[in-house]
Amino acid sequence: MADAPKLEDTARWGRAWQASDDWSSHTVSRAQAEQIAAGYAMLLRALGQRSGQGLAGIGIGSGAGHLEAALGARNYAMTASEWNEDGLHLIEGQNPQLERRIADLTTFHEPSTWNLIVCRELYPFTRTNDYGGQSAILSRLVDSLRPGGVLLLSGSDVSRPNCLDYRRAMRELAADRRVDRVAGPVLEPLLKRIPRSPFGTTAYPLQNMVAELALGLLNRVRRPRIAGIRLYAIRRAAA
Ligand SMILES: C[S@@+](CC[C@H](N)C(=O)[O-])C[C@H]1O[C@@H](n2cnc3c(N)ncnc32)[C@H](O)[C@@H]1O
Repeated sequence: MADAPKLEDTARWGRAWQASDDWSSHTVSRAQAEQIAAGYAMLLRALGQRSGQGLAGIGIGSGAGHLEAALGARNYAMTASEWNEDGLHLIEGQNPQLERRIADLTTFHEPSTWNLIVCRELYPFTRTNDYGGQSAILSRLVDSLRPGGVLLLSGSDVSRPNCLDYRRAMRELAADRRVDRVAGPVLEPLLKRIPRSPFGTTAYPLQNMVAELALGLLNRVRRPRIAGIRLYAIRRAAA
């Protein structure tokens, strides 16, 4: 059996897609980003954040930057980032209005700087089986939040076991003294529909539970598995 992919093997995945004509398949579309951002905003409000205050947010591994643009339209002061110049060119081409900069998830550490950090579908989490390294990245991300700040971590488990062990990571974060709240998992397909759901937001925990169960059952019989992109929100305790 091939060795499990480690951070150093996969952290640079994406070089090829950045240069290819098919780049749009690796990043959410503007329309999807709009729906996801509406779901994010709802969750952030539930966690006590009011985006109207111009809170400072950064997206890491932003792809085209559509999600950051959609959060920017909701009054977050968003910066989009990628790990290399090619990535920045993509952001500049698609969302020239956004602040942009280089940031590498594997080393990112900016203590007490951000009200919001967004990490969606990043290869070091979704395609890597390297719990020690992944857990160290998460710890530095928590450290990079201001008091009351929120890390939104969204990722697929389709490569399981070669992805972050999300449950273990969330258990450990919930026990971390710097963290006062861990919310999720919320299935992203559901999250995209919550604001428009005829059942409203109050029914969503039940909808989420039913959808999780259905996906779990389906994946027991189906190969390849259906990716469940799940969102977790990790809030840093107030000082
Ligand atoms: C599947 S895309 C997701 C893009 C965007 N977050 C979205 O959801 O539309 C994965 C992104 O992770 C970026 N990436 C890979 N390794 C990275 C690293 N070490 N630091 C920051 N970004 C990284 C890639 O360049 C790519 O843009």
